[in-house]
Amino acid sequence: MPHGQTALLSLPKKLSQSVVSNIYIFSEQQLSAIPESYSVQPPPPPPPTPRKKAQGKNLKQSLLSLASLEENNMFSIRSSSSSISRALLARSFIMREFCAAQRRESKLEGKVALITGAARGIGKETAAKFITNGAKVVIADIRRDVGQETARQLGANASFVACDVSQESDISNAVDYAVSTHGQLDIMYNNAGIACRTPPSVVDLDLAAFDKVVSINVRGAVAGIKHASRVMIPRQAGCILCTASVTGMMGGLAQHTYSITKSSVIGMVKSVAAELCRHGIRVNCISPFAIPTAFALEEMQDYFPGLDAGALAGMIHNAGVLRGANCEPSDVANAALYLASDDAKYISGHNLVVDGGFTSIKSLNFAGT
Ligand SMILES: NC(=O)c1ccc[n+]([C@@H]2O[C@H](COP(=O)([O-])OP(=O)(O)OC[C@H]3O[C@@H](n4cnc5c(N)ncnc54)[C@H](O)[C@@H]3O)[C@@H](O)[C@H]2O)c1
Repeated sequence: MPHGQTALLSLPKKLSQSVVSNIYIFSEQQLSAIPESYSVQPPPPPPPTPRKKAQGKNLKQSLLSLASLEENNMFSIRSSSSSISRALLARSFIMREFCAAQRRESKLEGKVALITGAARGIGKETAAKFITNGAKVVIADIRRDVGQETARQLGANASFVACDVSQESDISNAVDYAVSTHGQLDIMYNNAGIACRTPPSVVDLDLAAFDKVVSINVRGAVAGIKHASRVMIPRQAGCILCTASVTGMMGGLAQHTYSITKSSVIGMVKSVAAELCRHGIRVNCISPFAIPTAFALEEMQDYFPGLDAGALAGMIHNAGVLRGANCEPSDVANAALYLASDDAKYISGHNLVVDGGFTSIKSLNFAGT
């Protein structure tokens, strides 16, 4: 291939199937940026083991040198002869995958997120995931010490603000803190929530306890939506998330108080999405299956006081229906990342269920017939 020309190449068949299916476009602009040392060499003979090691080292150096040249899912390699070696094309392929992986890990570049209840558990896992993907995250939590330590652990792109979501002024301050610190708020994740410890029968329902759980799980989320909207509507953009639960989708999975609050979250998301869509703001929630965070373990300990955390976690996992996998905080964090990113740019008013199929499945049990 002569210098300065654009070429379209397919890879030799001897490379793996996934490699063969790739086609590369070399543009002059890209070619000019590649060091002369990447000139094409004649195809090397099958290398003995020691030579393979030397190639591995060169490949790493090559990847580092080429890393800044990738653009628009294409990259180029200068050719000074009419043949392209298989080794060079394989190197090109690896480089492309390397850059694609970098892009995959930066889905929230430049975004600012506020996550309530992120001192620990699902919220903390999500904060870490958002930061890995380029976001700045404000952790808003009622646990001051734990929240500050979490922010320290997550590094310079995390900060902490004390916030009790049942207090509207705290939510308002947290939103204002995010905007004054980072200039904007792109993602509001209303995740804070508590379990309830009330007698199981509705006849014995303690309405004072009910009001307390509602003030956090429902009123706290509504306040988060209200104040996020206050700063998002003027920008005509934003993403609001809430943590609901499978217990809000079906009866019988938790105490009435908790189930009622989580079903309210699913309802509020639909109601508010109907208004905020006119302002380019997406509103969604996530409904996880049971996860053995401190939240779930503390509640389980009330029912099974003799069992340790490991045994309780095992019970929670065994209650799932999807064999070979357990519901973990990272599953919710991945769902939140998806909904917060441009991958979900046309998704609003949705309840993303992370339950391994649990709420979609009910088996007929003929054993007793
Ligand atoms: N773990 C589960 O099995 C499960 C399943 C479905 C849904 N959820 C929901 O997921 C969310 C997170 O739960 P988790 O399992 O990570 O629990 P967690 O207890 O580990 O974390 C909850 C966080 O919320 C904070 N918080 C509690 N009350 C607050 C308040 N008034 N203001 C601000 N922060 C407050 C806590 O300090 C804590 O850091 C909750 O909304 C919960 O209802 C949990």
